[in-house]
Amino acid sequence: MISNSVVKPDFRKTYPQGGDKACLMRATKRSPLVGMLNNVEPSPFLAKAPYAKKEGCMLVELEISPENIKRLSSGNPLVGTFWDGKSLSLVEAPIEDISMVYNFFLHNHSLDLDESSNQFFQILRSLDAKGKPFLNAPEIYRIAHDKWETSIFFGEHGFPAPKTFQFNQKNLGEALLISDFAFIKDTGSYGGDYQVVVSKISRGYSAQAAKKRQILENLDQVAEFASTFCKPGHSIVQAGIRVPKIRDRNWDIRAVFQRGANGILDMTTYYLRVGKANSPQANIAKGGYAEDPLAVFSNSRKIGNMLRTLGLEVIFALENKTGKAAGELGLDFIFDQAGKPYLLEINSIIGSGGPADLSGRLADGIRTHLGNSLRSKWGGIMEKMMSNPFKYAQHLWGQHGQI
Ligand SMILES: Nc1ncnc2c1ncn2[C@@H]1O[C@H](COP(=O)(O)OP(=O)(O)O)[C@@H](O)[C@H]1O
Ligand SMILES: [Mg+2]
Repeated sequence: MISNSVVKPDFRKTYPQGGDKACLMRATKRSPLVGMLNNVEPSPFLAKAPYAKKEGCMLVELEISPENIKRLSSGNPLVGTFWDGKSLSLVEAPIEDISMVYNFFLHNHSLDLDESSNQFFQILRSLDAKGKPFLNAPEIYRIAHDKWETSIFFGEHGFPAPKTFQFNQKNLGEALLISDFAFIKDTGSYGGDYQVVVSKISRGYSAQAAKKRQILENLDQVAEFASTFCKPGHSIVQAGIRVPKIRDRNWDIRAVFQRGANGILDMTTYYLRVGKANSPQANIAKGGYAEDPLAVFSNSRKIGNMLRTLGLEVIFALENKTGKAAGELGLDFIFDQAGKPYLLEINSIIGSGGPADLSGRLADGIRTHLGNSLRSKWGGIMEKMMSNPFKYAQHLWGQHGQI
């Protein structure tokens, strides 16, 4: 049961209010309610809502607020936003009707430092304590989200990954003995932000962060420069892997693993991310673009099979360690000159950047030589990727719900 009777006065004033109460109540009786934790603008909720509707789920964006923390502890319905296909309305979502929690939250750099005062984590833990299934359980989210935890996990299982240390001046020196360049990363960073790339050069070191590049004489100076972006105690330093260039650019591969309608984990897709010219990072948000591996590698299928096998092994190990199922993870891989794959990171929050970029650019006719079949292929992949979490929610609802 769901009702839109409670409207918190200061909540999302810009959203239209109202909505068809009768329609919401009918919908709840036959469809699972998926609670989405999110508080960023522009809201990924609006991008996901049409797919939820198509899959017969009610996606409610749960407000991250002291009000909902209070409601969770007293067991009252949570306040959230619902999109009915035409307009947005404020609704109350009864906790018992939530079939899955879609914990899509883009990190706020400063908030992440203290979980106890972070409302997102308070709501997350509280829903977890109530036994709500998550697309990615908090335990999985934590290992994926913390780059140091991720590297410990890779190490425990002997998965191939660049050598990683906690960031301090001594360990920066260690990393630069392994490779002639190193990455310093904030443990909670994403999208290539808060990274410092240090390279050995004849005159000393080159350190590059955001749009700043500095030539520095010694490691003392490099560590000091880096610590303005990456706080010691909250950052890692990682040996750089020299990637064979594509069109003179760095690249990596994002492989997407999801559970869908049958609840079975598999690789949904994998795509190349080709970095901006002269950028050490391949992130699309940093000016890179997505590319179809079939258009680049003659042995693309073999690479795909290898990534699928390795990726499934990684995620099963993560599930064994946490005792929780992973609903949707993106693994980033890079390859060295010998073609050996390395795991860079586990993303517990995946956008649709790659397939959106590919289907968008192909539809724009920018890469028409790739042809119509690839255009519809990436449109289809995007559809599948966006729909899988809701198919999975239906699966969970069928197992544990009250249909
Ligand atoms: N150790 C490394 N060796 C080579 N390239 C790297 C290394 N670490 C990161 N990169 C490049 O930087 C990008 C961003 O790094 P990543 O670890 O995925 O952090 P983020 O979470 O910010 O995406 C990668 O996609 C890759 O292109
Ligand atoms: Mg990445």
